[in-house]
Amino acid sequence: MSQETIHQLREKAKQWTIEAGQLIKKSMHKPFEVDTKLDRKDLVTEVDRKTEQFFIDKIHETYPDHKVLGEEGMGDEVQSLDGTVWIIDPIDGTMNFIHQERFFAISIGIYIDGVGEIGIIYDVMADDLYEGTLGEGAYKNGQRLKPIDPNKALEDALIGLNNSWSIPNRKLNEEKIHDLVRKVRGTRSYGSAALEFAYIAEGIIDAYITMRLAPWDIAAGMVIVGEVGGITTRVDGTEINMLTGNTVICSNQAIHEELISFIETK
Ligand code: IPD
Ligand code: CA
Ligand code: CA
Ligand code: CA
Repeated sequence: MSQETIHQLREKAKQWTIEAGQLIKKSMHKPFEVDTKLDRKDLVTEVDRKTEQFFIDKIHETYPDHKVLGEEGMGDEVQSLDGTVWIIDPIDGTMNFIHQERFFAISIGIYIDGVGEIGIIYDVMADDLYEGTLGEGAYKNGQRLKPIDPNKALEDALIGLNNSWSIPNRKLNEEKIHDLVRKVRGTRSYGSAALEFAYIAEGIIDAYITMRLAPWDIAAGMVIVGEVGGITTRVDGTEINMLTGNTVICSNQAIHEELISFIETK
């Protein structure tokens, strides 16, 4: 696919993302259905589903040969990343959407033959749009983001860390996590993986560690962070598989290996 076609694709994706954001904002003024999925903390609303359907309709109508991998399962049965695959989280941070009515994002990653070419993360309520195009840099609201500090030390780092490390079946060495928390400057937990990636790209946090994420949580973020020099792997340092769940460490080059040394499974 030519760069020009990739640019056109990105502009379409951005246009639909803004439109979807407007629909989400409108639907917040009316009561909406809230359901649970795996357990009582795993929430989904009719707004998540409608937003995913909005993208699927647009994509299938405009690009009939593209596939969609979406969190709410209304897209295609995606078994491989051959061709053009849109990896979509219609609302990342559903719990924030329900409880706080802010701090949630639309996340769109566009992968071509397995390569992340375009990432878009839209913080709907703040109206902040982060985007990255492979080899062409990352932007926030049209302003180019600077490369992240490659030498920031762990002692000076603010790291995104959610409660997934405390889930018993993760079998993590909790002592090591305590050591990590004591070592870094501070920890943050924002409740939207996509926004945590966007914040790393922006340089306002320095790393993000989590024990369970799906492709749609990270597909866009990995492209954007990659464009400012950040790296993303599983917590053991191996490559992310964009078709399965993954543990995730995202950070600058300097602290990546050191962070891995703190994540020891029993
Ligand atoms: C969740 C958020 C949250 C992360 C969870 C995700 P959702 O996505 O990104 O920050 O900790 O693991 O599932 O369900 O709100 O799209
Ligand atoms: Ca969810
Ligand atoms: Ca998500
Ligand atoms: Ca979601």
